[in-house]
Amino acid sequence: MKPNLVFALDFQDKEKIDYWINITESSFDWYKVGMEAFYSMGDYALQTLFTKNKHIFLDLKLNDIPNTVYRATKAILIHYPVDMINMHLISGKESVKAFKDAVIEVSNMRRKTIYSIGVTILTSLSEDDMSIIGINNIAETVSNLSTMAFECGLDGVVCSTKEAPNIKQHLGSSFLTVTPGIRFDSQDAADQRRTGTLVEAAKWSDFAVIGRALTQSEDPNLTLEHMKEMLEGLS
Ligand code: C5P
Repeated sequence: MKPNLVFALDFQDKEKIDYWINITESSFDWYKVGMEAFYSMGDYALQTLFTKNKHIFLDLKLNDIPNTVYRATKAILIHYPVDMINMHLISGKESVKAFKDAVIEVSNMRRKTIYSIGVTILTSLSEDDMSIIGINNIAETVSNLSTMAFECGLDGVVCSTKEAPNIKQHLGSSFLTVTPGIRFDSQDAADQRRTGTLVEAAKWSDFAVIGRALTQSEDPNLTLEHMKEMLEGLS
């Protein structure tokens, strides 16, 4: 399966947003706007992407009590007609249900598909990090959180490429996997701990998030070409 490629617009100024959209728009239909761009520029990136008819994953990773998650999710989606939104599953089942309710309400109101996605365990975290909060097995925790997301009616989860196969096998191919932490060849993982390759993502992921693998590469245009060849070779 070929994943949708999602370009992470992790920048803090408008010039960089414009520059990177310009370089990537013929290769990406999906863009991810996260906290960095949203908190530094408000909705500039979103408005730019709306005018270009791109699909948008608004990655604000909500993590709060049910009432706040419900009201915040509705407020965001009413202001910004994005295609995908997420929250931390660690907020608990009631918050996840409230999130789903809000997404369904706005989705019905707008007659538009909005994917509701749960963040399992951040791909920057290792077993050592998690042991501090009493979690000793990341794979099992990701699996349990994904099952909870599935039972609450979410459309999918954010996980690492390593965890995606198990999720697909247990919860079915239509339950979406969104995989960040993608690196090409021997690229620097930076702060990420559970990274994966585009080839792994192509097997098990519906949405592969590409950020620094492209923006920190020596020649981004060449990297884009390699990326396309790699995916074409897999089909
Ligand atoms: O640059 P890099 O490829 O590491 O970017 C990863 C992107 O995916 C960042 O925007 C980060 O916020 C996001 N992300 C993540 N891990 C998650 C969820 C989102 O790295 N579990």
